[in-house]
Amino acid sequence: MKTERRKSFIKKAAAFALLLIMAINVFASDVEEKESGKKVKVDQEKMEWFADAKLGIFIHYGIYAVYGISESWSFYNNEISYDDYMKQLDGFTASKYDPQQWAKLFKEAGARYAVLTSKHHDGVALWDTKQSDLSVVKKTPAKRDLISPYAKALRDHDLKVGIYFSHLDWSHPSYASVHNGPNRASNNTNPFDYPQTDEADLERWEDFLKFHRAQLKEVDELIRPDLWWFDGDWSRTAEQWRMSEVREMLLSSNPKTILNSRMSGYGDYATPEQGVPIHGPEGPWELCMTINDSWGYQVDDNNQKSVNYIIRTFSDCISMGGNLLLDVGPKEDGTITHEQTEVLKQLGRWTKKHEEAIYGSVRGLPFGHFYGPTTLSKDKKTLYCFFLDIPKDDVVIKGIKNKVKQIRLVGTDKTLSFERNGGAAWHGIPGVLQVELKPEMLDKNVTVIAIDLDSALDLYRGHGGAIEAN
Ligand code: GLC
Repeated sequence: MKTERRKSFIKKAAAFALLLIMAINVFASDVEEKESGKKVKVDQEKMEWFADAKLGIFIHYGIYAVYGISESWSFYNNEISYDDYMKQLDGFTASKYDPQQWAKLFKEAGARYAVLTSKHHDGVALWDTKQSDLSVVKKTPAKRDLISPYAKALRDHDLKVGIYFSHLDWSHPSYASVHNGPNRASNNTNPFDYPQTDEADLERWEDFLKFHRAQLKEVDELIRPDLWWFDGDWSRTAEQWRMSEVREMLLSSNPKTILNSRMSGYGDYATPEQGVPIHGPEGPWELCMTINDSWGYQVDDNNQKSVNYIIRTFSDCISMGGNLLLDVGPKEDGTITHEQTEVLKQLGRWTKKHEEAIYGSVRGLPFGHFYGPTTLSKDKKTLYCFFLDIPKDDVVIKGIKNKVKQIRLVGTDKTLSFERNGGAAWHGIPGVLQVELKPEMLDKNVTVIAIDLDSALDLYRGHGGAIEAN
């Protein structure tokens, strides 16, 4: 009897513990979602290609390349009048537009996807929209849809197709009809964004939402993007956009499509812009960054980042589990400048040589084990260490408990000699791994070594300890 009672007590305790664990988990995931600002659960399976892809190319192509001025913002910020800005329509020829060439170059750079501006905040559509006349098809000498050949070229080159789309539209007559939220926004009264009176016109706003949805449907039917890169959600609340409806609409027609975060909380992944994060956001994420200081082609912008800087930044992103979406700004004729082409080609030299450390890798070591970026193979049996600078002496990696099988110089057939130094076996503290990286082994940009382990990475994360017995 006693044993029976004990058994039932154990059963009850186990059930209680299970319930407790489940409750803690639900609470934890809720906290996580609130922290990331996400209002949705993301299908991790569909994110797989994205997390593996690591490098994408962003393309800001539009009429702003005619004068070589800032995309949309130039008229919004009154640097040019709206009418003068729109005069660029007459000069947009796309006369040398060759997306096959683009795709070839992106592939050579090592990108696995690209994102093209189908419509920026200026409202000029790069496809033949039936919802308005403001398209390069109806209003420019280019006279044709530019997004379908882009999607085809990318797919011909086995690249995933991303489409940038600005929710807000500073040209649509019904757009500036409501304020941001139910009340008048006190600090922003820009006429392109907001009505100039306290009154909101909800009917016109509904009219705009219809237009917004209809354009999205057109693009969706035309090219079925693998990824939607939204922008400009900030000007209205999620409720005003009825953003959950947008998510539902796009996913119901194409369940595997990926949505970036500029969906007022209804997106799939985070998109920090220009500034490299210190800690990578949770889950898949992507840093978008310009090569010079501008998204689109700008005549006066020669502030080009060096290839080395771009490779370092890229290494940093993948080390924290993220992607880099590197931006190019083609000229109005559709050609990518010589400078930006060169950057992509040189980046390609590096990504090709180091591909095993890049694609399909996962975020690397936590801070403190190695002073540089690191990635891990998915099975965690190979650790990749990236050297941004020229090492002065042997390089060291701390806290690796596993047996090291061999250390290789990635992209070559060379192996490196190594030894363990110190450690306190009685406390389970592994010795420091000391690797000889000879100067002639260094890559002209970032050097990468691969540490092959006998099993999945096992790290010592403790505080050390004193010798208790001699
Ligand atoms: C910003 C800008 C826009 C640019 C985008 C790229 O949101 O409004 O001009 O296209 O960043 O991330």
